Order: sequence, then structure tokens, then C-alpha cells
Amino acid sequence: MSGEVYRVLPAAKKRAKIDDEKYLKWYKQSVKDPEKFWGKHGKRIDWFKPYTKVKNTSFEGDVSIKWFEDGVTNVAYNCIDRHLKKRGDQVAIIWEGDNPYDDKKITYNELYDQVCRLANVMKKNGVKKGDRVTIYMPMIPEAAYAMLACARIGAVHSIVFGGFSPEALAGRIVGCESTFLITADEGLRGGKTIPLKANADKAIEIASKGGVDVKSTLVVRRTAAKVDWNEERDIWYHDAVAAARGECAPAKMKAEDPLFILYTSGSTGQPKGVLHTTGGYLVYASMTHEYVFDYHDGDIYWCTADVGWVTGHSYIIYGPLANGATTLMFEGVPNYPSPSRFWDVCDKHNVNIFYTAPTAIRALMGAGDDHVKKASLKSLRTLGSVGEPINPEAWEWYYNTVGNKKSPIVDTWWQTETGGILITPLPGATDLKPGSATRPFFGVQPQLVDNEGEVLEGAVEGNLCIVNSWPGQMRTVYGDHERFIQTYFSTYKGKYFTGDGCRRDEDGYYWITGRVDDVINVSGHRMGTAEVESALVAHGKVSEAAVVGYPHDVKGQGIYCYVTLMEGEEGDDALRKELVAHVRSDIGPIASPDKIQFAPGLPKTRSGKIMRRILRKIAEDDFGSLGDTSTLADPAVVDDLIENRQNKK
Ligand code: WT7
Repeated sequence: MSGEVYRVLPAAKKRAKIDDEKYLKWYKQSVKDPEKFWGKHGKRIDWFKPYTKVKNTSFEGDVSIKWFEDGVTNVAYNCIDRHLKKRGDQVAIIWEGDNPYDDKKITYNELYDQVCRLANVMKKNGVKKGDRVTIYMPMIPEAAYAMLACARIGAVHSIVFGGFSPEALAGRIVGCESTFLITADEGLRGGKTIPLKANADKAIEIASKGGVDVKSTLVVRRTAAKVDWNEERDIWYHDAVAAARGECAPAKMKAEDPLFILYTSGSTGQPKGVLHTTGGYLVYASMTHEYVFDYHDGDIYWCTADVGWVTGHSYIIYGPLANGATTLMFEGVPNYPSPSRFWDVCDKHNVNIFYTAPTAIRALMGAGDDHVKKASLKSLRTLGSVGEPINPEAWEWYYNTVGNKKSPIVDTWWQTETGGILITPLPGATDLKPGSATRPFFGVQPQLVDNEGEVLEGAVEGNLCIVNSWPGQMRTVYGDHERFIQTYFSTYKGKYFTGDGCRRDEDGYYWITGRVDDVINVSGHRMGTAEVESALVAHGKVSEAAVVGYPHDVKGQGIYCYVTLMEGEEGDDALRKELVAHVRSDIGPIASPDKIQFAPGLPKTRSGKIMRRILRKIAEDDFGSLGDTSTLADPAVVDDLIENRQNKK
């Protein structure tokens, strides 16, 4: 069942900072005495005032998570200032534009100047420590400056992915009462423009009806498209920054002061504002970045994520920059102008460490080996995967064809909530099994439990919990601590419940099997089925909707919607298109339904609960084993659902 084992490559072991012996030793220390372990590793970042308390965490009762709590530091200082003496002229950010002829290199000195200027612009426009700043931007260096400028003055950023709709953006602006917005005229991806400023204008209007008035919008000129302009509110980024001073003292931040909010989908309700704080987050992001990728000074590191997701926060910006790395920021998409783009960029910039998502790997594998083979890829040394389980076929293609059998793959399991990687191989320490995230990082204590919460030992499958805190853990749901407790610590008392199912094999390796809640994972992006359902029922012709995931060759999971129409409405392809467009405009293109089945009735229990298990089976075209349907209020609906399924094989 565990398939083939790929032993640690001798070359990887030789150069690695951590070999297996050291992993086992450090891991043991880290769980035996977390206080001592993190007390030591917390010093990897600079502190204006050193901490004396290391860990003060409880998963019981009110749940309180504090790390390094009496320490004082600043994230931007750690990502920029402290490197200037040694590496002021080293490239901090390589920016690769959507157009392959468009690129730029930003040194640490330049980064310092840009971030200080922007910090001063924000201050001048009234942004203060603790204020929330929304960032709705393409993947351009200004997005990095914006994050770091917030960190520098102690403002809390909330990045909203550029693919989200005005409605979704408005919800997030209102959710954290953010009155300062940074955006661009347009985004550019795969040769197509995205009307960010126009979307932002719409969002501001919606937010104002929701009671939050955005006072200033700072607009980066990216494509020079003509945009509507509000003299009172809108400020051109380039004008303001040119006029600002290039020095700005970093704010003194307590370790537990908020750094950012990032909205993420859950199994119920609207997205939650995941709150991460300053000290512990940075210690964890930088330490995992160094050891998981076996980062060495001078390496060129590329994570293909977008800063709109947590991967972009921890592993494009904060982790690498805290380590003084050269981090590559890519504006485009994997298949533009051709499916060899990723590999061309690796060669062009001599990338050593490459970190991407299984969905991209599968798509590029489908485009054929020629695109890879014409690239040299000889600079590559470590490959990473994140976002969803990687199927062994894609893993092997990544290892053999992209990595040429000489680069270990780190399959990193983590979540927006965890701030950094929790379960992962280390390149010089861990034998690999395709499809397994392998073993816990230092300080991480996974536990598998059954549905009743009984702890399961040995080789077994169960629900994945983490039983003790680590420094990168989220601290609360912004503005709703009760929801934080309910969501993560109430299913299994005293444990952090991840929402994932997981198998542990006879070697103690962990195999994530996917979400066990009503969250689906589409191309590595999290989608709450409840959010898509609520978008669907907001359409005038829809009376009820149930949404489930189904296996999808490229996306991992696709979005399958069962829709019951209002009396007298006709379900046809035109309406299907209309509903897809409706969901896209309500949430964003990432939520586009793949399949819509019109269903006169949904399978409900007598108490009215929709039996999703049945809907999932039918969506998978696996209705031979529907299990017990006798508790349904009307078992006959099942026949109609099967008859009209949209996924016939
Ligand atoms: C969910 C978290 C962490 C950054 C990207 C996604 C799934 C993530 C893996 C992996 C199997 C994975 C889990 C998790 N997931 N990485 N290596 N193997 N599953 O962050 O949007 O918060 O989603 O992604 O289901 O719970 P996110």
C-alpha cells in the first residue's frame, strides 16, 4: 500500500543542514521540552527587547496561544534592515512579469527604500498601528512593499486574492473594518487583464452600504489602463511614493501584536479572518523555510503561489526575506505564453528551489514532456509541493522528468491556520514515499482520533489533530474568538482539529486523505460548499442548492452543484451558464461550478438534513454503494438524482 520508497539522495544528505540523526534528535527535544527548544530557536530573528517567556498556550477552555509574549520586535526590520550591512546589494526579489520579456531585480537596499517610502505614505494618510489595510493586488513588487510597509508601521494587512469578486472583496473589507485599500489599475495574468480598480470601486460602494467607508485608495499603475478616479479618495501610488522620505523607523511591536488577517473558507458560514501575530509567526515561517527547503545562503528560491494565499505570505515574502534569501515573484500563470513557462523561468534565473502545487504539476504533465525536456533545469536542487494531496503519478513525473531524479520532493502539508508547514519531509533526512507528507516538523505533535475522539495508535486512519501549539499557529478568528474555539477546539476537546483525514503507516508516515468536513479543495484553493450554495440560492430562479466536491483530473476536486429551481422554472443549458456566471460574479472565478444538476428534490432525512454522503457518491458516479437510504424522507428522489447525474463515466 505504501508503494515505492525513494531513499535520501546522497548529495542531498551531504549538503543538508539536517540529516536523519539530527532530525530525530531535534524532534525528540522539541516535543519533550518545547520551552527550551523554541527558547533557543526564537533567537533566529532579531528582537529589540528579548523575550523571557517562551510558551504560554492552552487548547482548553477559552483557548489562549501566546509565544515569546514579552519580546519586542518588528517583522519588516527582520526581513530587511538586519540584512543591509551584509547583503544590501544582494537581490531580495526577482520579479518575473506575465510577459516573458518583463522582469526586474530589487536589492535589499532598494527594498528598504521602497518600503520606507510607502510606510511614510500610509502614515501621512492616517494609517496607524493596529489599523487594518486591505491589499487587492496583482503579483508585482508593490504587493511585497505593501505587506512590509504595513508590518513596518504595525498596521495589519488583509490581502484579498485578485481573482475575488467585488462582493467578496467588500465582505472582507467590512469584516475587518478596513478603511485603507491598496490596489492597481489592472492586473495582468496569462495575457488577460483583470479590472482591479473597477472591482475595488464597486467593492467600496458595497462596503459602504455595509457600514464601512474606505477613506483612501492607493493605486499602482500597472497597465496604464484608463480608470475612474475619485479625487477625494484615490491616490496614485507612484506620485505619493516619489514624494515620500526613504527612511521610516520600524514600529516596536510586541510578539503577540497582529501581523495579518487572511480570510479563508470553512465548512459553515462566510470566510473567517484567520489572525496571525508577529514574533512566533516569523520564527516559524523562517525556520521552516530554511530547513524544509534546505535553504542555503545565495540560493535562488521560487514559490509559484500568489500573495493572496497563505503560501505567498509565508513562503514568498516573510520566510525567505527573514532568511535574507533571493525570492522570485511571478506575475503570470504556468501555461503562458506556453506550458514551458515555469521551466524557462527556472533556467532564466537559475532557480535552485522550486515550490508549486499539484494542480500545476498535473496540468503541465498533461501538456507533454517536450516542454520540460527542452529546458536544462540543471540549477534545480529541491522541489516542493503544497495545497492538496499529490497523486503518485504526478509525484513521479515531478521527480523524474522535472527533477531528473536528483532533487528530493518535499510534499508539505499545512493550512492557512497553521501559518507554516507542519508535516513534511526534509531534503537530507527523510526517505520519500510518493503521496505522503511523511513526518512532523520540529515541535509538531500530530494525533489521529476516531469520530468519538478516541486516540488511535499505530498504522491506522483517522481525523488529524495537533495536540500542542507551535509558534506559527493562528491566534484567533479576527473579531470572533468564540468561532475560533468552536471551529478548531470543540470537536475534540483540548486538541486542534485540522479538518483533514489522514492515514499513518507502519513507518509512522502521514498520508493526508483530504478534508473530512464540507470544505473542498479546488486547484489547491479552499472553497466552503456553504459559500457556493449561498451564492446559488441568491439567484432568483433557485430555491435550494447543495454543493459537493468530486475527483477532477487536474483541479484535484471539481465543484458539483445540485440545484432545485423555483416552481415553474425550466433547467436548461442557458440557465446553467447563467448560474455559473452568477457564482463567478458573487465569489470569483475560483468558485466556478464545474457541473450543475437540476434536481427536483434533494435527499433529506426526516428532520430536513441533506445527506451529502449520497450526493457525493452520485457526483463521483459511484452510486452502487449509496449505503442506507432508508432514513430519507423521500427515498425516491435518489433514483431521479442517479438518472440525471452529470458525471456519467
Ligand atoms: C488544506 C489547507 C497550506 C497552503 C495551501 C493551502 C490541504 C495542503 C497539503 C498537502 C495534502 C494538503 C489540506 C489542508 N493541503 N497541503 N501537502 N497534502 N493536503 O492552504 O487553503 O488553508 O488549505 O489544504 O486539506 O487542510 P489552505
